[in-house]
Amino acid sequence: MSYKTVLVEKEGAVAFVTVNRPEALNAINGDVIDDLTSAITELNGDDAVRVIVITGAGEKSFVAGADIKHMSTLSPVEVFEFVRKGQELTFLMEKSPKVIIAMVNGYALGGGCELAMACDLIIASDRAIFGQPEVNLGIIPGMGGTQRLPRLVGRNLAKELVLTGDHISAQRAYEMGLVNRVVPHDQLREETLKIANKIASKAPFAIYTAKRSINQGLNCSLEDGCYLELTNFALGFSTEDSREGMKAFIEKRKPEFKGK
Ligand code: CAA
Repeated sequence: MSYKTVLVEKEGAVAFVTVNRPEALNAINGDVIDDLTSAITELNGDDAVRVIVITGAGEKSFVAGADIKHMSTLSPVEVFEFVRKGQELTFLMEKSPKVIIAMVNGYALGGGCELAMACDLIIASDRAIFGQPEVNLGIIPGMGGTQRLPRLVGRNLAKELVLTGDHISAQRAYEMGLVNRVVPHDQLREETLKIANKIASKAPFAIYTAKRSINQGLNCSLEDGCYLELTNFALGFSTEDSREGMKAFIEKRKPEFKGK
C-alpha cells in the first residue's frame, strides 16, 4: 500500500494511517480524501487488522481542516464534489467493520475535527487543539460538523464552537464529551496502542456489530435501535467466538477468540 499523502504502517493488529502533509499542517485536499478512502477500504478487507488509528504527521497538527488554498479556487459545483467525497469518507469510516481511533496529536480544526468525530474514539494529546473555525473564513463546516458535533456534545455547546469559531484545548474538549481521553503528548502513541490492542483482543464480529448498532441506533427511534440490537445480538450466537467466550467464562479461563 503506497499513497501520495497518507502513510500506512502496521503494528500487530493495529494499522496506523498518517496524513502526511506536514508543510500544510496535514490539511485535506482532494488527494488526502482519495488516499484516506483507498487506505480505509484496503484495511477494511484485511483480516489481520482489527483497529485503525488515524493521525497526522509532525508534532504540531492532526489535520488543520480542509486545504483553504485549494478550496478557495473551486467553483460551487467543484466544492460540492470535494466535500461530498469528504462526507462519503466519514460514512465509510462509520460503517467500517474495524474500530477507528483518532489519535489527535495537535490541531484538529474544521475538517480535521470532523474527521476525528467520524472515528469511534478520540484520544488526544494534552497539546491538541480542537475547533470549527469555518465562520472565520465566511463559510460553515462541511464534513458533518453541524451534525456530528451536536450529537456528541449537545446543541448549545456545538453552537458555541461553530458560531464563535473559537479554538478549545484538549481538556475543554474532554469536559464537553468530544474526546475520550487526554494523555501527555509523549505518551500519545503508547496510550492509544493500549486501547487499540485491548479492543483488538475481543471477538471481531462482536466489536463490529456493537459499533454498527450504536452508530445506526443514534439515527433512528429507540425502539428501532433496540430491535437492531436484538437482531445483532442473536446473530452473534452464530459465531464460534460467542460459544468460546461464554464457555471460557463457565470454565473460569480466558477466552481464545479466533475471529470466526
Ligand atoms: N489549509 C491550507 N494550508 C494550511 C491550513 C489549511 N487549513 N492550515 C495551515 N496551513 C498552512 C499555512 O498556510 C502555512 O503554510 P505556509 O508556510 O506555506 O504559509 C503552514 O500550513 C503552517 O501554518 P501557519 O503558519 O498558519 O501555522 P501557525 O502555527 O501560525 O497556525 C493554525 C496554525 C492556527 C492551525 C493556522 O494554520 C490556521 O488557522 N489554519 C487554518 C485552520 C482552519 O481554518 N481550518 C478550517 C478549514 S475550512 C474546513 O475545514 C471546511 C470543512 O469543514 C470541510
